[in-house]
Amino acid sequence: MGQVDETKQLVGEEVVKYIKDGMKVGLGYGSTMYYAVKKLGERVKEEGLNIVGVPSANKTAEWAKEFGVPLTDFSKVQELDIAIDGADEVDSNLQLIKGGGGALFREKVVAAAAKEFYVIVDGSKIVNHLGAFKLPIEVVPFGWEVTASKIAKFGCEPVLREKDGEVFISDNGNYILDCNFQKITEPEKLHNELIGIVGVVETGLFVNMADKVLVGKDGKVEVVEK
Ligand code: A5P
Repeated sequence: MGQVDETKQLVGEEVVKYIKDGMKVGLGYGSTMYYAVKKLGERVKEEGLNIVGVPSANKTAEWAKEFGVPLTDFSKVQELDIAIDGADEVDSNLQLIKGGGGALFREKVVAAAAKEFYVIVDGSKIVNHLGAFKLPIEVVPFGWEVTASKIAKFGCEPVLREKDGEVFISDNGNYILDCNFQKITEPEKLHNELIGIVGVVETGLFVNMADKVLVGKDGKVEVVEK
């Protein structure tokens, strides 16, 4: 296992310590979350931890089943005690870019349903300004070219995401545009502008949502709070 993966495992396992008996837990998606779901399954088995999870992605649901984490959905619970998830970039105000794995819409719904939202990253994700990572924006397939040209007016060149030579389709049946804004100085303003464009389903800017960020570096975890 490489050092980045070891760090992802470290923070993924650390965040699970915040999960207590009886909690309803939002489960994000990504390679860091994989370790968190695995550890949560161990706690369920070994300690009899009584929790239920709401997954943000079909893949997360698969991991939860594999590792024995009981799942529920929003037809049964509308408020979660905590949501945990990875991120692609985190700035000093705990604003985030997410969506590298294409699950940003459901991840945002899950995080917004939670009383507390804890983010787990390795130190390489900490930035002075968001935007070096291309901002993922989920758009409806119909007329996506029109939507992309409107997004471009805000200062980027949107690229339609592909995977294995095919257009990437989100769990919601939508497309993802990866947008190279380079430097996002006002994330809230940009999000508000982009979300107003017809055809935009959600942006990967998670503004004023994170309560704690667990940052892994050199074998240690630093907890950054608002
Ligand atoms: C999934 O859509 C993303 O928001 C992930 O949370 C983000 O890309 C972090 O992924 P890793 O944990 O794989 O770095």
